[in-house]
Amino acid sequence: MSAGLDGIIAADTVLSHVDGAAGRLVLRGLDVERAAQSLDFEGMTALLWQGFHPLGGRPDDLRAAIGQARGRVAARLPALLPAISGLSAVEALRLLLASLPDGDAAGDAVMVVAAMPVFIAALDRRARGLAPVAPDVGAGHAADFLRMMTGVDPDPALARALDTYLVTVSDHGLNASTFAARIVASTRAGMVSSIVAGLCALKGPLHGGAPGPVLDMLDAVGDAAAAPAWIAAELAAGRRLMGFGHRIYRVRDPRAEVLKRAVRSLSSPRILLAEQVEQAALTALSRHRPDRPLETNVEFYTALLLDAVGLRRDLFTPVFAMGRVAGWTAHVMEQEATGRLMRPASRYVGPLAA
Ligand code: ACO
Repeated sequence: MSAGLDGIIAADTVLSHVDGAAGRLVLRGLDVERAAQSLDFEGMTALLWQGFHPLGGRPDDLRAAIGQARGRVAARLPALLPAISGLSAVEALRLLLASLPDGDAAGDAVMVVAAMPVFIAALDRRARGLAPVAPDVGAGHAADFLRMMTGVDPDPALARALDTYLVTVSDHGLNASTFAARIVASTRAGMVSSIVAGLCALKGPLHGGAPGPVLDMLDAVGDAAAAPAWIAAELAAGRRLMGFGHRIYRVRDPRAEVLKRAVRSLSSPRILLAEQVEQAALTALSRHRPDRPLETNVEFYTALLLDAVGLRRDLFTPVFAMGRVAGWTAHVMEQEATGRLMRPASRYVGPLAA
C-alpha cells in the first residue's frame, strides 16, 4: 500500500502518457513540444476528444461550437455574478461552474470548455468593478479570453503564448484532478459534476495552486545575488520551493522547457531573475535531498508566462483549469465509456470490537 497511490494503475487511457524517467509527455501520440508548436487549444481539444465526442477530430467545427457556447454561457452571467462576492478567483470559478446543469455529456463537454474563459474574465472584471465584456463567438478561444478580460483585441503574440500554455497543460496522465474527475464520472454523476471535482482537486498548492507562490518567491528573492541565501533559509525552515519537484518526473518536466521558450518570446522582464533563481534552487535542492532528484516543474515557467501575458496571480489556477478542462472532459468521456464504477478498497487498521 502506498499512501500517495504511487505507481498504482487505475485506468487505461489513450489520452496521454507521462514518462517520468525520460522526461517525456505524449498527448494522443504527439510529444508535447510538437503539440504546442502545431496545435491551438481548440485543435488540441478536438484531438483529445477523438473517438469520444461527435466533434472529436473536427477542429474547425469544434472551434465554432465552442465559440457559440461562449455566447450562451455569457447570457447566464447577470444572474450568477452577484453570488461570487467575497470569494477568491478559484472559489468564484468553482461556484460559477457548479451553477451549470448536468445534461447530456456531449453538449456539456462543449459548454464547460466554453464556460472557463467567460467565467474567469467576468469574475476578474467584477473584482475590478467592471462589467463583463461579451464574447466574440468567431474569435479563437485564447484571444477571446484576453479580449473579454481587457475589452480590447489582444496583441497576437500574447494570445499565441497563452494558446501555447493551454495546449501544454491540456492533459497529463492520471494526475490528482483528472483522477478526481474520473471517479465522479464513474458514478455517472455527469460532466459538470466531474469537472467541478477536478477543479476542487486542482485548487490545492501541491497541484495547480503553485504558480502564484512562484512569483511571490521571485519577489521575495528580489535579485539574483540574494537567491542562494534566501533558498537555503527556506529549505532550512522545512519549506518547499514552489515550482520544483514532481511525483512522476525524475528529470526536468518537458512542459517547463516549452513554456520557457514561449516566455522568452515575450521578453518577460522577470526571465533573467527566474533563470538565475532556478539555477540556485536546483543546486540547493541537489544538496538538500541528494537521494531524490528535484527538478523544475511546469508551474515555475507557468508563473512567468501568465504574468507576462498580463494576468493577476490569483487567476493562475483558474487559467490552468481553462487548459486542463480539455483533458478532464476527454477523461470523463473515456471513463464513462468503460461503464465501470470506481470503487477501490481500504485496509482496516483500527480496533475490532472485543
Ligand atoms: N522543495 C523542497 N523539498 C521538496 C520539494 C520542493 N519543491 N519537493 C519535494 N521535496 C522534498 C519533500 O520534502 C520530500 O521530503 P519529505 O518526504 O521528507 O517531506 C521529498 O522531497 C520527496 O518528495 P516526493 O515524494 O518526491 O514529493 P511528492 O511526490 O510527495 O510531491 C510535489 C511532489 C507535491 C510536486 C512536491 O515536489 C512539491 O510540494 N513541490 C512544490 C509545489 C509545486 O511546485 N507544485 C506543483 C506541482 S506540478 C503540478 O501539479 C501541475
